[in-house]
Amino acid sequence: MIKVENLFHDYEGKKHYAVNDVSFNIEKGEIFGFLGPNGAGKSTVQNIMTGILKKQQGKVLYNNKPIEKMGKSFNNRIGVSFEQPNIYLKLTGYENLKYFGGLFNVRTEDPMKLLEKVGLKDEANKRTANYSKGMKQRLGFIRSIMNNPEILFLDEPLAGLDPNTASGIKEIIKEMKKKGVTIFLTTHNMFVADELCDRVAFINEGKIITEDNPRNLKLKYGKQSVKIETGKGDDFKTEVLFLENEEDKEKFDRIMKEKHLQTIHSQEATLEQIFIKLTGRGLV
Ligand SMILES: Nc1ncnc2c1ncn2[C@@H]1O[C@H](COP(=O)(O)OP(=O)(O)O)[C@@H](O)[C@H]1O
Ligand SMILES: [Mg+2]
Repeated sequence: MIKVENLFHDYEGKKHYAVNDVSFNIEKGEIFGFLGPNGAGKSTVQNIMTGILKKQQGKVLYNNKPIEKMGKSFNNRIGVSFEQPNIYLKLTGYENLKYFGGLFNVRTEDPMKLLEKVGLKDEANKRTANYSKGMKQRLGFIRSIMNNPEILFLDEPLAGLDPNTASGIKEIIKEMKKKGVTIFLTTHNMFVADELCDRVAFINEGKIITEDNPRNLKLKYGKQSVKIETGKGDDFKTEVLFLENEEDKEKFDRIMKEKHLQTIHSQEATLEQIFIKLTGRGLV
């Protein structure tokens, strides 16, 4: 349904690529996630896919039609939630939704019902300048679903939310998937990727490192992993080894014989452990 091919993005024209040859496909009705640390290029890709950032090189196709040919009606078909919610601080939550709803040429949901969905009903008539960060984020989220989009883009939808609010938003995301909405989601949180995504692509320094169903990734790399820190003093290196993998097992035995081991933790394999194994760095 969505095809991204050989996408590059260079913000300053100095051949420093924030997005460096990124390709992937998203099937209709799936939740496809981008998992990677800050600065990996996730928001840049989302902004190019939604037309907010002008595409420089590569292809973005919706049902084989290039994004540059989608026309204005495209905005009626997509929902976009930003990392920094773009809402008007002088307006109330209700007024914000009324305003943004008026920009669509399709039917939009009742603002009050949406506010109620995320626990903002009592704050509906307060200026959003007085909203907490989490409240603003919830407002930004419902703004993105008010036009019943076919495709939903969610940039770090759960970052900074308390567990209760986060679980409410996760339920709404799952409901949207059940309705057949295709969802692109970015996160630096392995739990979010694990719980919500049908497929997840690891992204680091503008490049996709691997891509699969979270469960398959864990099966592929093994159930049990150890995280070790080796080196002397402050000069140490973090590595993750999967003991079901022969090569990793040998390396582990070698390290145990040497004397540079600083710490060792044995853990169930998580997406972050796999990320560290593949990139040499963590997600934060
Ligand atoms: N407007 C911009 N101008 C210049 N560089 C930018 C701009 N926005 C992002 N970058 C750089 O591009 C890279 C990717 O950023 P971003 O897509 O925001 O990553 P992520 O969303 O994964 O944190 C980072 O190195 C960031 O500093
Ligand atoms: Mg981002």
